[in-house]
Amino acid sequence: MIRYNKEQQLFHLSTPKTSYCFAAADGRWLGHLYYGPRLADTAGMEQAFCLNEFPFSPAVNEPDKVRFTQIFPYEYGCFGTGDYREACFDAANALGMRGVDLTFRSFEVVPGKVAPEHLPHTRGCEACCDTLDVLMTDDVLGLDVHLLYTVYSDLDVIVKSVKVVNRGEAPVTLGRVLSGQLNLELEACEVLTLHGSWGRERTITRQELKTGSVAAESLRGVSSAEDSPFLAILAPGTTQTMGEAWGMSLIYSGNFLAKAQIDQNGRLRCVMGIHPETFSWKLTPGESFQSPEVALVYSGEGLGQMTRTYHDLYRNHLIEKRWLTMDRPVLVNNWEATEMHFDADVLIGFARAAKEAGLDMLVMDDGWFGHRDDDTSSLGDWFVDERKLRGGLKKLVDEVNAMGLKFGIWIEPEMVNEDSELFRAHPDWRFEIPGRKPGAMRKQYVLDLTRPEVWEGVYSQLRATLSSANIAYVKWDMNRHLSDVGSLLRDADGQGELLHRYVLAVYRMQEQLLKDFPDLLLENCSSGGARFDAGMLFYSPQIWTSDDSDAIERLSIQEGTSLVFPLSTMGAHVSVCPNQQTGRSVPFNTRAKVAMAGTFGYEMDVRNMLPEEKAQIPGQVEQFRRVHPVVREGDYYRIASFRENHTHDCWMVVKKDRSLAFMTFVQVLATTNRPGMRVRMQGLDPEAAYEVTCDYAGALATSNGQSSTDEATGTLRKLGRFNGDTLMKHGIIVPRVRGDYQALLYEVKKV
Ligand code: GLA
Repeated sequence: MIRYNKEQQLFHLSTPKTSYCFAAADGRWLGHLYYGPRLADTAGMEQAFCLNEFPFSPAVNEPDKVRFTQIFPYEYGCFGTGDYREACFDAANALGMRGVDLTFRSFEVVPGKVAPEHLPHTRGCEACCDTLDVLMTDDVLGLDVHLLYTVYSDLDVIVKSVKVVNRGEAPVTLGRVLSGQLNLELEACEVLTLHGSWGRERTITRQELKTGSVAAESLRGVSSAEDSPFLAILAPGTTQTMGEAWGMSLIYSGNFLAKAQIDQNGRLRCVMGIHPETFSWKLTPGESFQSPEVALVYSGEGLGQMTRTYHDLYRNHLIEKRWLTMDRPVLVNNWEATEMHFDADVLIGFARAAKEAGLDMLVMDDGWFGHRDDDTSSLGDWFVDERKLRGGLKKLVDEVNAMGLKFGIWIEPEMVNEDSELFRAHPDWRFEIPGRKPGAMRKQYVLDLTRPEVWEGVYSQLRATLSSANIAYVKWDMNRHLSDVGSLLRDADGQGELLHRYVLAVYRMQEQLLKDFPDLLLENCSSGGARFDAGMLFYSPQIWTSDDSDAIERLSIQEGTSLVFPLSTMGAHVSVCPNQQTGRSVPFNTRAKVAMAGTFGYEMDVRNMLPEEKAQIPGQVEQFRRVHPVVREGDYYRIASFRENHTHDCWMVVKKDRSLAFMTFVQVLATTNRPGMRVRMQGLDPEAAYEVTCDYAGALATSNGQSSTDEATGTLRKLGRFNGDTLMKHGIIVPRVRGDYQALLYEVKKV
């Protein structure tokens, strides 16, 4: 709900459990007042601006203006006119002089969603949200700045973005247009970010912030594996189930800055948006610029509730609706098994084995095009390598389809190798700074998709390939970060626009792809999970989470990823052991249980498997099909974290009506001389009775210490009937399991 109190000039945005308030101090300066648990009333709140006290405010008691600007809690901080904290907005006049001073002018409430053009965004109908458009102006620069707030009625979410319009007569250069700000006053706080690297993406990192600032950022051209465009502020002692958490999640896939800063008075300002280091934008008269969106969530019930709110927001209002209830295909991908060394016969062999095991789809990964035998060649040449796929793509796909399997394909459209027909014909299509040879990474270069002829040249190849056969799924990869970004087609002003224009061009291509092939399932990927962000989820309902497919490593990666992103978006496969990345061997059952927390599939040579493993696949697939609807649509609860306790991991998914839940427990390291472990479930109906069964599917210690190995995946043991309240307060005892890396799956069903 959006309310405006005319007397106070105060905006009160409220969601079921939260309130967000800001007001126009002195009718002019927009200042932040509150973000936290829902307030019944806002009477008197604006006294927090202390307008009659020194040094407030320039208009009332005429102190020096900069004494005011340096401490006023701006709703949207600007650079250059006396606010020295991290700014959201910066612009220069035609002479390059920087400095912005915004004045509140008017507002409008629009039912439903005002969607930013050409950018991924949350969606919403008139029944589920309203949008507030607050107009601020800088009359010296001739700029209108619209602060847009979408407020959801059924979710504790406020989505912000900013639109800038040049209403003046001279061009203005925007130096930063961040998406939004979060202001808090806390005695102490922690900053939570998702830090990482290739193969170690999105590890939860918490650090105390007392002075100075903490940032998460990317300058790599993509949202990156090193930092994720997310930041949360936690009140001291916040856990999964208790305490206060404020989250900021950016719906964008390029360079970003997320920064939390404590000012001279101990107040916290967090900003988030396109990274200003690599951004400038020339706005000529009449033109406008739209920032990406940032989604703010407040939870007074711990991190777990923050997570569930983001999951609901992204599943219901970001990802294309049909994927919420549609089963995802269980696939086999040939990458880890064959890399680029395969041909049609090999793939047909994969398809046969996959069909026998009850899988749904074969995905042909990197190596099918140009003359690609290794990573030195062919990116850019999106036509079939007839040496490998004799008779062409259609022949292969038809054959696979005839077996009753769908077919998927890997592409990496943003790239080019020097050894390619595309590069030989258009050596000037890659990003390059004249006079300097661009740096290669994985022997490839990035195409300047901001140029219409490059975009068309690449897209026409994609369209032709996908039109040539019945392709149900595309894995869109992006295996290097951007460097040497320059374009001879742009003047000096235009160079600062390139990185954002690049992201817009990628979005446009994915949008076009889905328009031309509306039934396609798109999975994004970037050297594993280097572009796992809410921007890409607007186009693809799932993203490959990490090239590290080791089930034990995946515990932390999937824990960090699912802190913000729905489980159903995490690409997760069972792969071969010893694991390709870590050399670790983990039981087949455990690999499957961990992959079931995301989308599910196999990334191994299904033709040549150990018979005892092969025999388990149908049971695993059957189990996935039972678990997946709850993973996809239910509530997620993080019960224990191996990252924190160094022995075990545990999570739960609960159907929205609380009639069915699944709890996965992974004993990472076995210990001796300990009783079973008490685990308290979450999210159940306290008044209902539940039947609990457990799939031990592995080595369960018997009284004489010997393991019993007669269990197979899907063999459920009844543990009995429990009350929901008992399961949550008293808990259940997870028995001592013999051996490292063991996984148990509990099914909890209302009776
Ligand atoms: C990236 C992906 C992998 C695989 C290879 C192919 O690394 O993350 O899954 O597709 O590219 O080159």
